[in-house]
Amino acid sequence: MTLHWTPLARDGAARAGVLHTAHGTVETPVFMPVGTAGTVKAMTADAVRTTGARMVLGNTYHLMLRPGAERVGRLGGLHCFMDWRGPILTDSGGFQVMSLAGLRSMDEEGVTFRSHVDGTKHRLTPERSVEIQRLLGADVTMCFDECTPFPATEEQVAASMRLSMRWAARSRAAYEPREGHGLFGIVQGGVHPALRAESVEALTAIGFEGYAVGGLAVGEGQAAMFATLDCTVPLMPQDAPRYLMGVGTPADILGAVRRGIDMFDCVIPTRSGRTGRAYTSRGMLNLRNARHAEDPSPLDPACGCPACARHSRAYLHHLIKAEEMLGPMLLTWHNIQYYQDLMRGLRIAICEGRLDEHAAALEAGWAPLRE
Ligand code: GUN
Ligand code: ZN
Repeated sequence: MTLHWTPLARDGAARAGVLHTAHGTVETPVFMPVGTAGTVKAMTADAVRTTGARMVLGNTYHLMLRPGAERVGRLGGLHCFMDWRGPILTDSGGFQVMSLAGLRSMDEEGVTFRSHVDGTKHRLTPERSVEIQRLLGADVTMCFDECTPFPATEEQVAASMRLSMRWAARSRAAYEPREGHGLFGIVQGGVHPALRAESVEALTAIGFEGYAVGGLAVGEGQAAMFATLDCTVPLMPQDAPRYLMGVGTPADILGAVRRGIDMFDCVIPTRSGRTGRAYTSRGMLNLRNARHAEDPSPLDPACGCPACARHSRAYLHHLIKAEEMLGPMLLTWHNIQYYQDLMRGLRIAICEGRLDEHAAALEAGWAPLRE
């Protein structure tokens, strides 16, 4: 059987379930730490697993440039290469080409671009993206799409979305089904309800193992993102996993789970950990701030990670100020731990039918601190 999702419980529009993959099962709603270049930055694979994370994301774009998809394939695939034994979802490259590559040119067939690493010229098409993801050994392969830039006119959004739908059909045709593996389509259409509806219809007509919502968290703001989910998610298949790409803060994730999203990935916990920011049950704090310099209390008394269990805010502040490597390591660990604890709490609340009360408690906790 291909990769599939089974429901466990519902609470309003929110769902708890289990994703069945070739590398094990994953409880949803799930947050996948980002392992862009074959590593969740500043964490060993064992440490990532210790936080409760069961699935990570890898990137076609970065890995095709360095060390190369064929090389990863010869070395036994990404699971073996990075020693991550759980499931891996790989993004298809279109989004990263747009945000990172130099000198791009796009046509009906695909995208030609220059590497941000060494300036060399490369080409991605739906067929090549799917092939790279197969070489990497992805449990979940993503269709090659264009993440529509924001802002754009409705005509531009429509043309971009329809191109992504033609590329989705080509991705499906190029994909070779494998036991426990699957291909996800990506809904585009910007903030326009009619275009989102057209995109869902096009993808469900092709048929995928899961459906992602793309093109959000690109500058439209949380209210527009939630409004887009409100009109998009109810149209998506009930029996397949739903994945909101590149989102987000704890509050974004809470809002999206309440609207029926099952899967998330985002660089926020890892990237902000490297710059001294910590997400906690009392909101976000910046450990660079001098007010932590002599604070002996733990980062988050509600957290069991090594940063919180063994160290003071003062020590973490010192590490960040002194640019010691351990600072980003500990804060990344904490942030990933916080996100995994958040998701676990959401799953339990959905299963117990008390998501509204749980959401109110989370929001009350986040309220006092805004740094
Ligand atoms: N990551 C965040 N948004 C997107 C998107 O729209 N498409 C893809 N492929 N990846 C994303
Ligand atoms: Zn912690």
